[in-house]
Amino acid sequence: MSRTNGALEVIALGQIARDLAVLVDDLPGPHGTTPVRERRELLGGKGANQAIAMAQLGLRPGLVGVTGDDAVADRLLEQLAGDGVDPTWVVRRPGTATGLVVDVVDRCGGWHYLEDLPPEVLLCVTDLADAASALAEAETVVIQLQQPTEVALTAARMARRGVARVVLDGAPQDGAHRAPLLAEADVLRADHHEAELLIGRPLDGVGDTVRAAKELLKCGPGLVVLDAGQDGNVLAWDGGEVVVPLADVVVVDTTGAGDAFVAGLVAGLARGAGPERAGRLATAAAALTVGRLGGRPHLTVLGLVEQMARLDGRGWET
Ligand SMILES: Nc1ncnc2c1ncn2[C@@H]1O[C@H](COP(=O)(O)OP(=O)(O)O)[C@@H](O)[C@H]1O
Ligand SMILES: [Mg+2]
Repeated sequence: MSRTNGALEVIALGQIARDLAVLVDDLPGPHGTTPVRERRELLGGKGANQAIAMAQLGLRPGLVGVTGDDAVADRLLEQLAGDGVDPTWVVRRPGTATGLVVDVVDRCGGWHYLEDLPPEVLLCVTDLADAASALAEAETVVIQLQQPTEVALTAARMARRGVARVVLDGAPQDGAHRAPLLAEADVLRADHHEAELLIGRPLDGVGDTVRAAKELLKCGPGLVVLDAGQDGNVLAWDGGEVVVPLADVVVVDTTGAGDAFVAGLVAGLARGAGPERAGRLATAAAALTVGRLGGRPHLTVLGLVEQMARLDGRGWET
């Protein structure tokens, strides 16, 4: 799969941020105090998490995203490169503090995010100029939709000038470019809440989620992957559908599991897997992430294979 011209296999477009994850027994009420049981300070943000997870699965990713021009950015960019992600197209915004996400997790695994992600740390269309040829040359471009929709659409069109498989993660931030954006997508993946936003109604159960996935197929993507809550994840494509159940693992914090899921899906498809197998790889990658505090993925190919074997024993529903 590696290319002789040095082009990257995957470009991820999305947030890069400082990620502070803390585990507490219970959230304090107003004026209350509670001790922190565990804390992690990590390189985070969905774009960075997805890119790192893809590197851990043996792909060669680059990241398009925005940091500030502070010392935090120096640290995060160094970490990103150390994690095997090409940081060439990360924009350092002058006079800006790097984004921050605080992830407070209670003992039941309930997360509470505090986000300092002002517009300056989101991408704008002009930020994409330097990345245009990389987007066109990549084999896969993963666009995380918590960036402005106009940026997502521009990036998808740049990718379309080349050969890239365009993967969208999430739901568009506004309706203005929704239809043209979905029309550019090869793969659309969404968590449960995002799936409801995409389809414009509440989704009740796995059958309803399968119907929603089939409706979304008509908007352009060749593969739609929707989180159906405790029922697992639905994959629908022209001529088929499958529901991949969740793994039976202890859940500490689901943060970043969606990012690992996307990475597993992309790695599977990039290596020629069909939708079912790619969905199982994605589920295995998510399962390897939910047991840890914070969003940073810790995937290994061996871990994925072991988790896949456990999933295989659980059978399939269609
Ligand atoms: N036990 C589990 N086994 C496998 N996948 C899981 C499990 N628990 C949650 N997941 C998956 O993790 C993903 C979480 O996605 P998402 O909410 O987008 O996370 P984030 O955006 O924080 O990365 C979903 O696709 C969900 O199905
Ligand atoms: Mg998500």
